[in-house]
Amino acid sequence: INSPLIDSYGRQITYLRLSVTDRCDLRCTYCMAENMTFLPKRDLLTLEELDQLASHFIARGVRKIRITGGEPLVRRDIMHLIKRLGRHRERGALDELTVTTNGTQLSRFADDLKRFGVERINVSLDTLDRALFKTLTRRDAIDSVMQGIDAAQAVGLRVKINTVALQSNADEIADMMVWAHGRGMDMTLIEVMPLGEIDEDRVDQYIPLSEVRDRLAARFTLSDIDHRTGGPARYVSVKETAKGKGGRLGFITPLTNNFCAGCNRVRVTCTGQIYSCLGHGGAVDLRSALRGEAPQEALNTLLDSVMRAKPERHNFDISKRGQGPSVQRYMSVTGG
Ligand code: GTP
Ligand code: 5AD
Ligand code: SF4
Repeated sequence: INSPLIDSYGRQITYLRLSVTDRCDLRCTYCMAENMTFLPKRDLLTLEELDQLASHFIARGVRKIRITGGEPLVRRDIMHLIKRLGRHRERGALDELTVTTNGTQLSRFADDLKRFGVERINVSLDTLDRALFKTLTRRDAIDSVMQGIDAAQAVGLRVKINTVALQSNADEIADMMVWAHGRGMDMTLIEVMPLGEIDEDRVDQYIPLSEVRDRLAARFTLSDIDHRTGGPARYVSVKETAKGKGGRLGFITPLTNNFCAGCNRVRVTCTGQIYSCLGHGGAVDLRSALRGEAPQEALNTLLDSVMRAKPERHNFDISKRGQGPSVQRYMSVTGG
């Protein structure tokens, strides 16, 4: 390994979240506006460039790559990239290659994902109710997600369900958890974060996970466990009282329980902008370095400067209602 990526707080970056498109076939209200202006295709890194960047990060100690979007599976020929990245997995240079997806395209791609070395995926799903799904995502697409999950499990991909906790789905979370665990899937709950110009909706929808946890604890037995995935979730094991199988439940609590001290990740967008923190602006452009002369040296220099500037933590604060989002950019740009 060339010199590892260590920031000024001593945190080593071993986890790259690589966004391959800002586009998506859904329009989740907390993530995108209905009428998004997408980046022009000519600004995108090519799949070869994405692969080149990934290799550079691996050479500097990254051990886990998560492909994100937008919706990563709507990027044209995305399986070419997955296949290439799978080679790093094969030669033992990566501990994990994985994807966060909305699930709509999984029936098409589950098989290839598995074949190219993905073992586990996260599927974003906030409700099992058709009408609420349509309200939250502005698309009537729940059937394709369900088929996608079936397909993924059928080829042996491990699936974790990501659910953003909202006022509108709060009453359903317990049932969803039982459903997920019944199918052998872990579930992670996420506090909604104030990003993008869509805050009224989201601020009204916010519910602290401390409250959700209390509600669940009234019905089920939750015990803290030391399960680590490299992401920010803290896990409990849930014993369901009835005949339920039980399983793991994760909590991602940017607002009620900051986890930035353990941060191990950076984000690169589909145009090659690197964000050292989800909760801050100040992206650094890697694309010109990648396309210029001596890209390796140029990238090394840029990454070193990004490490020096990585903020200690995000400053999301839901109590600042009506003052606009903490960060202007939409979640779909950095993939969460
Ligand atoms: P695992 O590998 O399963 O642990 O996944 P992950 O949690 O790392 O990735 P995923 O794409 O499933 O992200 C789930 C949620 O966690 C998303 O809403 C992300 O925005 C949020 N998240 C991930 N990393 C960070 C982070 O560094 N800061 C904040 N504030 N949120 C994060
Ligand atoms: N706050 C919290 N999570 C969000 N996601 C998208 N937008 C937000 C937001 N504003 C989630 C998606 C997906 C993950 C990648 O990010 O639901 O699970
Ligand atoms: Fe698409 Fe994911 Fe954003 Fe929903 S959260 S609009 S599925 S990118």
